[in-house]
Parts: sequence; structure tokens; C-alpha cells
Amino acid sequence: MLRFSVLLFLAVLMSSTGQRQRCLRGAGHKPRPTQEKYLQECTLYAKSACCYPNITEQLADSPVVKINTTFWNRCGNLSPECEAYMKKIECFYRCSPYIAYWARPRQPAAISSVPICKRFCDNWYEACKSDHTCVSNSLTDWKIDEKGENHCKNDCIPISEMYASGTHMCEKMWGASLKVAYRSPCLCLEMDEMDPEVIKFIQYRSSSSSSSSSSSDNNDEERFCRLRMQMRRELEDKYKSLENNELPIDDI
Ligand SMILES: *[C@@H]1O[C@H](CO)[C@@H](O)[C@H](O)[C@H]1NC(C)=O
Ligand SMILES: *[C@@H]1O[C@H](CO)[C@@H](O)[C@H](O)[C@H]1NC(C)=O
Repeated sequence: MLRFSVLLFLAVLMSSTGQRQRCLRGAGHKPRPTQEKYLQECTLYAKSACCYPNITEQLADSPVVKINTTFWNRCGNLSPECEAYMKKIECFYRCSPYIAYWARPRQPAAISSVPICKRFCDNWYEACKSDHTCVSNSLTDWKIDEKGENHCKNDCIPISEMYASGTHMCEKMWGASLKVAYRSPCLCLEMDEMDPEVIKFIQYRSSSSSSSSSSSDNNDEERFCRLRMQMRRELEDKYKSLENNELPIDDI
């Protein structure tokens, strides 16, 4: 129900914005996103995915040992809670059909400044703080051998020592890929079912000619935020009832 009202709100707002789903160039992405019925992980992206199923086979193991040539257990296996967050980020990078919106111009397999919610980073940090790592920046701090495999250059230390906070971790672990959205707590991603709506709104905002924020822009954003908060509560209720093995009351 609520999802429907968000979609309707967005449809009215963006009557003529076309599809903008594209994949990153390189890093094993597809030429363009397509439906994938056989993903073993990352099923959030099943309707439209930039990844082939084979990468999700490796992600489906728990504990994850390695993805392609990158080992995840150089400082020991991740805790299940931490691993779940690492998978969300990996799935987003591998599979999201919207990711090319943040592609770097001269480094097309890389992304920069994807707006991420502070709340997401704080929960991620909480889930991982007792897990260990030997790299501050996962993109640059490994020693890579001739097979493309990663090795520690430094000692393994707890995440809580490597990073001071969730924000610090989000903005450091993947280089400049992620950026905590302070200006608007709504226009940011949480790697969940609401992301497509958020991304559409972000794209709408950046394409609408009114670069000086008008009051109607602010009203749109407030309205969007309210709908989003409501939707998040419904999602949380749905997950809670799934955990308790109850049937969800309404599929949102
Ligand atoms: C796997 O790793 C190789 C070597 O690092 C790289 O060239 C290739 O693009 C990677 N493939 C995927 C699917 O990430
Ligand atoms: C995954 O499958 C795709 C398409 O079948 C193929 O091009 C690619 O090389 C495979 N990647 C790996 C890492 O096996």
C-alpha cells in the first residue's frame, strides 16, 4: 500500500524521466542489467541485476572465503553480523542496476560519493566492531600478488581500532566510493528495498533545472522523507514478523 503511494508520488513528480539503469564497465559487470532468476545472494537485485549469478555463488557461502581473487578471511572469518553488511555492499557494487550513476569518469569500474545513510554506517560499524582487519582502505592497502590475490601488509586489529566511527569507516574502507549524506537524512541509500525510490528521487532532484532550492523542492523532499520513514517502519515490521515466523500482514 505505502509502497504504492511512494511510487505514485514519484510518478507524478517525474512524469517524463526515462529509465536510467546502466552497469559499470569492467569488474565483471554485464553490458546492461537484466532479470536474474538464479541469484544465490543479492536477491534484492533479482528484477534487474548487473551481476551474473556466478559471483553470487561465491557470496552465498558463510563464512565467505573469497570473491573472485579477494580473500575475505585474511584476519579470520567475519562474524555473521558483520558478514551480512559486507555482503550488502558487495551486492550493491556487483549487482545494482543504478550504480553507474556514480561511476568515475576516467575509472569506469570505480564509483565515487554514493550517498549512504549515517544510520546504515552506524549499524554496520556496530555489527563489525569486534571483527578484525589489516587494511584501512580496501582498495589500496592490500599487497596484491601475481595471481591477483590479496595479502595483509599490516597487523590485524579490531575494526573499532581501525575506524573511530561508522561514518569514518564508511568513508574510508572503500576509498572515496561512499559518502555519508549529512545534508539530507532521506536522500541516501541503506542497501534495501527502498533504494530504487530514493535513487529516482535523487536523479529527479539533480535533473530538475531548479538548482537553487525552491520552497516547492523542499516540500517535495519533506513529503518524500515522510513516506520513506513510514515505509521503513513497515519494512521493519515485516522483517520482525518474518523472524517470528508469522505471515506478513501485507506485502508492501
Ligand atoms: C577477477 O579478478 C581479475 C584479476 O584481479 C580481474 O581482472 C577480473 O575483472 C575479476 N572479475 C570479477 C568478476 O570481478
Ligand atoms: C561469470 O559468468 C560470465 C557469463 O557467463 C562470464 O563471462 C564470467 O567470466 C564468469 N566469471 C567468473 C568469475 O567465473
